[in-house]
Amino acid sequence: MEVTLRVFRFNPETDERPRWQEYRVTVEDYATVLDALIEVRESVDETLALRCSCRSHICGSCAMRINRRSGLACKTKVREVADADGVVTVEPMATMRVIKDLVVDLEPFFDKVRAVEPYLQPAGPPPEREYIASHEDMENVKGAQACILCGACVSACTVMEVDGSFLGPTALAKAWRFVADPRDAADEKRLTALSGPGGIWDCTHCFMCVEVCPKGVAPMERILDLRRRAMEAGLTDNNGSRHSQAFVDSISESGWLDETKVAIRSTSGPLELLGWAPVGIRSFVRGKVPLRHYKRPGAEHVKRIFRRLGELDGKGRRGRPGAGAGARAATPSNAPGKAGDAQ
Ligand code: SF4
Ligand code: SF4
Ligand code: FES
Repeated sequence: MEVTLRVFRFNPETDERPRWQEYRVTVEDYATVLDALIEVRESVDETLALRCSCRSHICGSCAMRINRRSGLACKTKVREVADADGVVTVEPMATMRVIKDLVVDLEPFFDKVRAVEPYLQPAGPPPEREYIASHEDMENVKGAQACILCGACVSACTVMEVDGSFLGPTALAKAWRFVADPRDAADEKRLTALSGPGGIWDCTHCFMCVEVCPKGVAPMERILDLRRRAMEAGLTDNNGSRHSQAFVDSISESGWLDETKVAIRSTSGPLELLGWAPVGIRSFVRGKVPLRHYKRPGAEHVKRIFRRLGELDGKGRRGRPGAGAGARAATPSNAPGKAGDAQ
């Protein structure tokens, strides 16, 4: 089949600005976008820069944006993404500095992974014999271990787009992998660090990392589970967990969200609230501050659900010891947990 690759070209050392370049090549019907790019480099333009190695979705080096969506070029079939005119658009990963064409600077990405100390930290001196983890425990962390550090989730992350200080989905999924590992004894230290600025509370649940991950790691699910664990560990003196709790309290009190109350309760107190005054005034002027919390039809049913959940918690039939409603609400029903935890 014939395909036109519309490729982002940019060499910061010689070009003033990026440009698009089109290449028309003939590839096999089963060809991947990576096959087509390699064909371009070998037969048409040897100056095109791209990264690849295994060509089998194992090494993670060929991540890029294909038709604006982040993913592995070696896992994406041309015929599945070409439009009616046979055009496929290829760009480097977003949220990362371009070194040349499709090659990005991965150093900041790996710095963030290193920052979560991605290695086992057992308690006490090394044991005389190896720690044999149960099959169940290892099954639990297997999903996160599948990460190939391709960076596609970071490229797609809507928070990374605007806030470079966010640790990001790859590093947080990696952190979860060790918090969930029964051989690791540094949970408290890890969760404390992850509860700070740039950590677990900065994710906006946009699901992009879950959607694009080629290995099913589901970083957002790991982040939500880290939040639950942090709250259960008593790490609640931060805006994120206050917001989570305020959200649940608001709905259990009135059956629907009281946005003004939630915003106020998410702060640490009057002093911080004062700092937010300019934002509050701007929101008010633009009509974004609801002045009244009206009764809504059906809200009573929602309140009843919350009451019932509270009763079930009281009987120990659901939930986890020490977990408040906010902790549970911040956790999806299918969130991964430490093996042996009630799910
Ligand atoms: S769910 Fe969170 S971590 Fe994942 S892409 Fe969205 S903001 Fe980023
Ligand atoms: S979590 Fe998925 S998308 Fe993100 S780096 Fe790992 S394998 Fe790639
Ligand atoms: S070339 Fe290794 S993952 Fe694509």
